[in-house]
This record gives sequence, C-alpha cells and structure tokens, in this order.
Amino acid sequence: MVERLNEFGFPVKWYSEGRVRFVAPEFPTTKAGEPVAPTKWPIFYNPFSSLSRDLTVVLARTFDRKIRVAEPLAGSGVRSIRLLVETDTVSRALMNDINPYAVKAMKLNAELNGVLDRSEFYHGDAAVFLTALSGTENRVSYVDVDPVGAPSKFVENSLRAVENNGLIGVSATDLAALVGNHPNACYRKYGLLSAKNHFAKETAIRLLASFVVTRAAAMNIAAHPVLSVYHRHFVRVFFKLTRGRARVIKILANIGWIQACDCLRSTVYPLENLPDGKCPRCGGEASVAGPAWVGPLQDVETVEKMLQRSEDLPQAFETITKIRDEVDAVGFYPVDKIAKNMKIQPPSPAKLVEKLKEIGYKASLTHVDPTAVKTDAPLEEIIRLVSAGVC
Ligand SMILES: C[S@@+](CC[C@H](N)C(=O)[O-])C[C@H]1O[C@@H](n2cnc3c(N)ncnc32)[C@H](O)[C@@H]1O
Ligand SMILES: [Zn+2]
Repeated sequence: MVERLNEFGFPVKWYSEGRVRFVAPEFPTTKAGEPVAPTKWPIFYNPFSSLSRDLTVVLARTFDRKIRVAEPLAGSGVRSIRLLVETDTVSRALMNDINPYAVKAMKLNAELNGVLDRSEFYHGDAAVFLTALSGTENRVSYVDVDPVGAPSKFVENSLRAVENNGLIGVSATDLAALVGNHPNACYRKYGLLSAKNHFAKETAIRLLASFVVTRAAAMNIAAHPVLSVYHRHFVRVFFKLTRGRARVIKILANIGWIQACDCLRSTVYPLENLPDGKCPRCGGEASVAGPAWVGPLQDVETVEKMLQRSEDLPQAFETITKIRDEVDAVGFYPVDKIAKNMKIQPPSPAKLVEKLKEIGYKASLTHVDPTAVKTDAPLEEIIRLVSAGVC
C-alpha cells in the first residue's frame, strides 16, 4: 500500500469522513506554516466541506429506488464513495475530473472502500462527461455540481444529465460575488444583480437558486429547491427536477426582486414590477438584488425525510433540524443591526423569537446567521417589542 501512496509523487495521507477512509494530499503548508488553500493542492479535498457531503448522503437516502449518480467534479472521489458506502440507494457512481491525479486517487479510494465494481471513472472536461449522459437512456438520478467558485458553466449540462424526478445539488464558493461585495463579478458569472443587504447570505442562496431555476426553465425543466444551506465558505441548493411546461410556468412565479434598506425594511417585488430603489418606509436609498428566487427554500416533506435519515451524521442532523424550524420568509433581521438603528443593546435572538410567537407571529432563528431572527411580523412590530425592552 505504501508503494501505491508513493506513486502520486507528492505526500498523501489517510483521512476519514463519514464511514469511509481515503487518501488525499497531506495538508501542505506555506513557508510561514499556514495551511495552503485546497485549491492549490495537487488533488482537491476540503475537510471543511464535510457538511456539504453529509447532506448529499442524507438526501440520496431519501430516494425510494436504487439510483445511479454522477459527479462531474469529483476530486478525490470522497463524495461519490461516501454515497456508495453510506446509502442503500446509490448502486452506482460515475466520477469525473479534469485532473489526472484526482482520477488516480478516486480509483484507489474506491478500491480501498470496496466499491470499485460499483464505480466508473472518467478523465476529462465536465461538459464532455455530462453531455454523454444527456440522452434519455443515459441520464442519472442525481448529479452533484461542486466547483471551486461559480457553478454557472456546469449547470446546464448537469441539468440535461438528470432524469425526470431526479435531483441535482449545486454549490457555489464565490460568495464575494453573491453577497454583493463584487456585483460586477456576480453579473458576469450569473447575469444577476447581487446586493449588500442585511441578509446578504440568504440573498446569495436566493441568487444561486434563481440561476438554476431559470436555466432549467429554458430547458423545460421545473427545478424545485428542496434544501438550501449556507455554511462557512459555500452556499448549496438541492433541487428536484420535473419536466413540463405547465410546471415551469408555475415555478417562475417565484422569481422576483428583493429590495432592502438600511432601516431594515425589505420588500419583495414580482419580476414585472422593477423596484425603484427608494425605501417605502424611510424614503432612503435601498439596494435591489435579483432576479432572485423568492419562494420557499426548503421542501417540508424532503426535509422531514432527511431528518429521519441523518441520525448517524450529527452535523447534518443539527443543520437540517435548524432548517426545518425556519420560518418561510424572505430575509431576516440581525439583532445587532436592529440595536444599532435603535441605539440600544442587542436583544437576544431566541427571546425575540419567543416574544413574536407569543403574540401570534411566526418566528424562528436561522442557520444562516446565529444572530438573526426570521419572522412574518412587520418591522414596526419588532421595533415595538425591542424598544419595550421585552427581549
Ligand atoms: C471543489 S473540487 C471537488 C470536490 C469534491 N466534489 C468533493 O466533494 O471533495 C472541484 C474539482 O473540479 C475539478 N475541475 C475543475 N474544472 C473542471 C472541468 N472543467 N472539468 C472537470 N473537472 C474540473 C478540479 O480538478 C477539482 O478536483
Ligand atoms: Zn428605509
């Protein structure tokens, strides 16, 4: 085995994640002793993305049949191999990467985990790999799109490769573009306007979802978000894909504009009603993001099923539990921003949630920002409660 590890020509080591053990490059360090970003590793593996893989495993467990999955950007193969080892549903995984070292690693890792006979390996561009899966006979039940940066250039081909009623998972790590720090980059990559509002991390999810939904719509596919997550360096949305024009027309009603002001007033506008950027509450200049997905970010039934199948994966279980309890509303209120505007000490988010519920509103915390509250209560009601000092 040691000989085979030496074959790579750079130091590799054993890692474990979920129920698999696998090899990937040893965490290289800079001269200053800092860990080098995974993008600079000879084979990509980011231990901090384990939640993304845990959630993928749990989602794959919700299928009611045996499925084939495809991973066009597979790196070390850890995600596909986990799907093969940790689910009863994934019978076959097709892994592809443009990096020859990655292909070598995924083969070795599949063998080490006893799933070689259920794996296929491809070396080449993701677009070519996915195109070969696009015919009706060749499609798979799940495609995982996990790039470094924006997924834009992989999304259309991935959608084509998924069978009707299949699922797709799409990540983005170019958060600076999506949260409004680099709106030009966002427009260039996604054709969308990002904005630095007080719930920019949720807006990032909604822009990524909009991108996938509108690309799918053009191909007569309705993409329904079933689970959306923001974690550390990435956003990820999983979608269920169903073909048909009527479904597509219906789903596009969830695309609109998000206008938000520093006074914390945010408003959603339908697509045909472009907001004027003037806050209806204070008359100040408000930011506009979109076209964005303004519909539900989760599917209640899928989330329940996922929760039931995640008990062996604590990080996923905890995140899905938070997501299940989140109020379905566009945006949230960070308590420090409320406090800053009112020039008082920040209220406790949990207490504010309790108070809002007591008086009959829907309210919850959000996994996206631990200091924020999601609610269907009007802003004035929140301000009234906070200024009365009840939380
Ligand atoms: C973020 S990593 C994938 C990590 C993996 N999905 C996981 O969960 O560990 C992205 C991978 O995409 C590969 N890649 C980049 N551009 C590609 C392309 N055009 N076609 C195929 N693979 C590509 C890189 O070599 C890298 O291994
Ligand atoms: Zn305002």
